[in-house]
Amino acid sequence: MKYRYLGHSCVQLTLDNTIILIDPFIQDNELASDIDISTLKPDFILLTHGHFDHISDTEEIAKNSGATIVSNYEIANYFSRKGLRTIAMNYGGTIYKNDFNAKYVNAIHSSSFPEGSYGGNPGGFVIYDDEICVYHAGDTALTYDMKLISQQFDIDMAFLPVGGQVTMDLSDAITASQFIGCKHIIGIHFVVFGTLRINPEEAVEQFKENGFLLELMDIGEEQTL
Ligand code: NI
Ligand code: MN
Repeated sequence: MKYRYLGHSCVQLTLDNTIILIDPFIQDNELASDIDISTLKPDFILLTHGHFDHISDTEEIAKNSGATIVSNYEIANYFSRKGLRTIAMNYGGTIYKNDFNAKYVNAIHSSSFPEGSYGGNPGGFVIYDDEICVYHAGDTALTYDMKLISQQFDIDMAFLPVGGQVTMDLSDAITASQFIGCKHIIGIHFVVFGTLRINPEEAVEQFKENGFLLELMDIGEEQTL
């Protein structure tokens, strides 16, 4: 599997026959101005919750690519009313596709659309196939429910918010890494309301001291798991 960081909480996973894009927020992210969204051709767009900084490019990318939008019931309905193809989920549910499975798991946060209407329950996704298992936490506080993830899955890599203020900060993200039982963490959501909230070198060192690898990717960078 390849994983590419597209800024903020947006990542693209490339499986053998399927491209999955999570939480597209690119054109309104000035740090991601080098990314041309017309080049993105996902098969599925997974949305963790309705906040603007997680969904803003969904409609345009879905129209360009024909991607199916996967999210909670309310967000799926919101996009299906716009004529887009959607799959609705809710907590504890799993979708089984040809190339991957995805479970929608709990997040402690809120969820509303940019115009203020209700955006269902916020969540995260555990995405897995025969070879890999990755967790994208969306926006969330630290929660004991993360221990369920390590009971049910063997997580190879996790995308965790580390910026604080509206999500976990670094030290809570280290505890979350312990709860989910994963050594390889990709930090996301570390620029909050336009301000860098971590010292990258110190953050990596803090994780290392606790036995975890924190990877902070450049926008546009792609790696192979
Ligand atoms: Ni949010
Ligand atoms: Mn957010």
